[in-house]
Amino acid sequence: MLNGKIALVTGGARGIGRAIALKLASQGADIAILDAGSLELSEQTAEEIRGLGVRAFAARCDITDYDQVTAAVAQVKEALGGVDILVNNAGITRDKLALRMTPEDFDAVLSVNLKGTFLMIKALYADFMRRRSGRIINIASISGLMGNAGQANYSASKAGVVGLTKTIARELASRNITCNAIAPGFIETPMTASMNQDALEEACKSIPLRRMGKPEDVANLAAFLASDDAGYITGSVINVDGGFFMR
Ligand code: NAI
Repeated sequence: MLNGKIALVTGGARGIGRAIALKLASQGADIAILDAGSLELSEQTAEEIRGLGVRAFAARCDITDYDQVTAAVAQVKEALGGVDILVNNAGITRDKLALRMTPEDFDAVLSVNLKGTFLMIKALYADFMRRRSGRIINIASISGLMGNAGQANYSASKAGVVGLTKTIARELASRNITCNAIAPGFIETPMTASMNQDALEEACKSIPLRRMGKPEDVANLAAFLASDDAGYITGSVINVDGGFFMR
C-alpha cells in the first residue's frame, strides 16, 4: 500500500499517465498531475482521484521548460508536501521516416521525452537526497530498445531515457532511492489511436499475447515499482508488451 506517500505523475491527464495516477491513488497515495495539455482534463482526472479518498493536485506545466518545472514542483510541495514517487510519463511522437523528419521534429520529441524527464528529476533531486528515500519511474518504450522505422526521434529519446534511468539509479542508490524504467509495447491510448491503424493492426499480429496492452497493464507495474516490495529493484528496464520484444 502507498498510504501517506505523495506521487507526481507527468502527463497524468490522460492515457497511461492517468491510469498510473488512478492506480497509485487506489493504493492510498496522494497525487499531483502535471500536464501541458488542457487543465480541464487534468482536473477531471484529479476529481476522479479525489473520489478515491486521497488528495489530488493538478497544474499545467510544460516539462521542457525548466522555469515551469521548478514553479510547478514548488506548487506541488505547497499543495501536498514533498514528493515520494516521481513518474516521468509525459511523452510525444512525431513519426516520419528519417528522410522526411525535420530537425524540429527531432528536437521536439527529444525535448519532451528525454530532456523533460531529466528536468523533472533535476528539480526533485536535492529533495530526494534529503529525504533518503524515494522512487523514480520513467516510462520508456520498446521502441527505444529495438528501434522502429519512422521513429528515429522517438526511439532515440526512449533509448536516452534508459541511459538516464541507469545513471540516476547509480547516483541515488546510496540514498535508498530507486530509479527504474518501464518499456511498454503497444498500449491503447490516445497516442496509439492517432497512429496509422492498419500498420498498428499488422504489428499487433506479432504480439505473442495477441492483444494490445491497456493503460492499466502499465499502471500495475508502476504501482509495484513504487511499493516497498520493489525496494531491491533499481536500474532495471521492464517490458510491458505482451511478449512483443523478448531479449
Ligand atoms: P498520450 O498522448 O495519451 O498522453 C501523454 C500526455 O502527456 C498527454 O496528457 C499530454 O498532454 C502530456 N504531455 C505531452 N507533452 C507534454 C509536456 N511537454 N509537458 C507535460 N505534459 C506533456 O500518451 P500515452 O500513450 O498515454 O503515453 C504515455 C507515455 O507512455 C509516453 O511517454 C509514451 O511515449 C509512452 N509509451 C506509450 C505507448 C503506447 O502504446 N501508448 C508505448 C510505449 C510508450
